[in-house]
Amino acid sequence: MILFRTPFLVAFLIVLHLTSCKKLDSYSERMNQFKMDELHHRPLFHFTPEKNWMNDPNGMFFYKGVYHLYFQHNPDANVWGPMHWGHATSKDLKHWEEHEIALFPDELGTIFSGSAVVDHKNTSKLGTLENPPIVAIYTNHNSQKAKKGNAIDFQNQSIAYSTDEGYSWTKYERNPVLKNPGIIDFRDPKVFWHEGSQKWIMSLAAGQEIQYFESQNLLSWSYLSSFGQGIGNHDGVWECPDLFPLPVNGTQARKWVQLVSINPGGPNGGSATQYFIGDFDGTQFIVDSEFQKAMEKKHSYWIDFGKDNYAGVTFSNWSNKANGVLYLGWMSNWEYANKVPTTKWRSAMTLPRELELIQNHDGFRLHSKAPSDWDKYTVKTLEKETFSQQKETRLIEKGAIDLSTAQIKLNLVDLEEKKYTFILENSRGEKLSFGLNEKAHQFFIDRSQAGETSFSETFSRKPSIAPRTKKATSLQIQFILDKMSLEVFFDQGETVMTEIFFTHAPFETLSLKTDANTVKIENLLIRELGKK
Ligand code: FRU
Repeated sequence: MILFRTPFLVAFLIVLHLTSCKKLDSYSERMNQFKMDELHHRPLFHFTPEKNWMNDPNGMFFYKGVYHLYFQHNPDANVWGPMHWGHATSKDLKHWEEHEIALFPDELGTIFSGSAVVDHKNTSKLGTLENPPIVAIYTNHNSQKAKKGNAIDFQNQSIAYSTDEGYSWTKYERNPVLKNPGIIDFRDPKVFWHEGSQKWIMSLAAGQEIQYFESQNLLSWSYLSSFGQGIGNHDGVWECPDLFPLPVNGTQARKWVQLVSINPGGPNGGSATQYFIGDFDGTQFIVDSEFQKAMEKKHSYWIDFGKDNYAGVTFSNWSNKANGVLYLGWMSNWEYANKVPTTKWRSAMTLPRELELIQNHDGFRLHSKAPSDWDKYTVKTLEKETFSQQKETRLIEKGAIDLSTAQIKLNLVDLEEKKYTFILENSRGEKLSFGLNEKAHQFFIDRSQAGETSFSETFSRKPSIAPRTKKATSLQIQFILDKMSLEVFFDQGETVMTEIFFTHAPFETLSLKTDANTVKIENLLIRELGKK
């Protein structure tokens, strides 16, 4: 009997051994992936959730020296799912501390994107004048209703308030405060106090347009007007609007900026954020006529031409000397966000950027200013004043600097109508290249050889490009690397490109390649960055 059973026993033991080896294999694979995520991919200065999925930034406000960032979060998996609002704070926009989840789904639905304001005058009466409430306005998405197929009113706007500066929240008992009138996509309320007419204004994505609403107390809202039909890009759903005023070239004159995220339809595929310049009188947003003419001539107005900056909006209750605004986006793209090769966490935010409005011979342009306050985080600096080189120049030699987190600035002068390519390279032969094709008046990023790309067909099918709008024979360029991200600010932020990548080792060298006769570089500054 025993003999008869032996082959079965042996086979059983072999199968058991193999499955446990497989388990061990996949366990060790997972551990390796975790290590890779933490070592090579988790950025130092960009916010990432400790665990699981994140998309849009939500409810950002600045209060009593603290920046609050809430975010679309699925705390139970590393893919999009039932949305909560995660929460993180920072005092310097470099270090972020994650807190308890701020808003959980409820009987009205999951918690989609929205904004938060400090109600200084206590118009909502949800706090006191001495301790003004923070009021969050968000979309309740009723997924059960949505799944039924014939329902269209499953997205409604609700509010929650905090009387402890944003750390804990109470949902308003008479939610929703703005009911869906029968529009499938009716979401992402962004609210601000309009000084001119002394009331709250909400801009809301409604199908393929933006609708504006007004309120005296944040609790009851009435419709004002709509914007968007026949204007701008309509190749996808309009999402995450933001409306704010900006001074023109630092003067007293000002214009209003309307941001609209769109997915798909971005200039390089998938998700991206377009902007419109115009005027807002407390009731209507009217696009500037010159701006509209330029748009009709197919000028592109995107806040970022890279593939990875989406759903960005501005902080409430923040101001600087220039009366600018502070903006931050989600550093991914719906084309592949759910598939990027990190496991423990998925997605990072962009670095915060101050936005400025410039008017030149070519009309209005929104400039994004890269964060410049890196002194405290600089581990090592390399500088070089002016030098000329031919064909291929090594700007950073192997071993000179750790390029995994770094800020690099330089000017290229006496440009010819040729191509200028910066190449970052590591010991594995992985390469990330980007630069200027002055002949075609285009900037570009090519991440097709920068490590893992196979998770998505569209991640690196072709290089991303952006038109160079500035006409000049010199180029100021600044870029920031942070493990998995490259943010390039061309022409003082007139054109920005943000892209993520997944290499298996840090970049070690930086070269500049050109087919111009000579290349002249001025004011090269390289800072290796680290946390102290
Ligand atoms: C934009 C978006 C929003 C929505 C949220 C859901 O990325 O689709 O319109 O509120 O994400 O997570």
